Amino acid sequence: MRKKLAAGNWKMNGLTASLTEVEALIAAHPAPGCEVLLCPPATLVAAMAGVAKGRIAVGGQDCHAKVSGAHTGDISAQMLKDAGASHVIVGHSERRADHGETDAIVCAKAAAALAEGLIAVVCLGETEAERDSGATLTVIGAQLAGSVPEAATGATVVIAYEPVWAIGTGRTPTLDQIAEVHDFIRGELVKRFGTEAEGFRLLYGGSVKPSNAAEIFAVSNVDGALVGGASLKAADFGAIIAALG
Ligand code: 13P
Repeated sequence: MRKKLAAGNWKMNGLTASLTEVEALIAAHPAPGCEVLLCPPATLVAAMAGVAKGRIAVGGQDCHAKVSGAHTGDISAQMLKDAGASHVIVGHSERRADHGETDAIVCAKAAAALAEGLIAVVCLGETEAERDSGATLTVIGAQLAGSVPEAATGATVVIAYEPVWAIGTGRTPTLDQIAEVHDFIRGELVKRFGTEAEGFRLLYGGSVKPSNAAEIFAVSNVDGALVGGASLKAADFGAIIAALG
């Protein structure tokens, strides 16, 4: 059985004062029925890990493919681990769009995360134009093949399907559309990784909120969510955790 995962991506939001939300979340959900992960901005990883004390997992939002060196402003997987992270998101569509990250770059970052013992949350997703032109599965298949490193296992890599047009828009695919993509991803993983494929968690992301979480979690091959805006407030993220667990 795959353990369900509720993951929050704070993106470029959160100051030290925001850590009270983490304390409130843990207090309200002391024994969630699913794994809970929060990925704050890098400035808060160590402080959040200190607050979490292992009761929820803490992750980074990106890492460099190299361990160290002359890469001003970048952060390595080793540094995230040193700060208390157990996971790192790689290949988020905002990184792909804002920083020109290709599948090859994302794959190298995921491999670097695995080499440090971090779990990589690898993000995939089609744009609205790609969906409208009927290219969704082709795009997802190519991103999956190009972004997931050879060393991946169900224990070390989580796949997040986040349609770009559903992120921060309040719009979500239909449940049938989510099922189609998640079933497709599972099938592609089976072709590449054989029986190991059943161990990979597949998260849906894009405008997940308390009001739609339960119906999305009931969809085939949805093992949890990657939540943006609704992960910032303990009440909203807690309701999503409760719907999953
Ligand atoms: P929203 O939940 O704000 O749509 O963001 C989704 C996302 O991009 C999580 O990584």
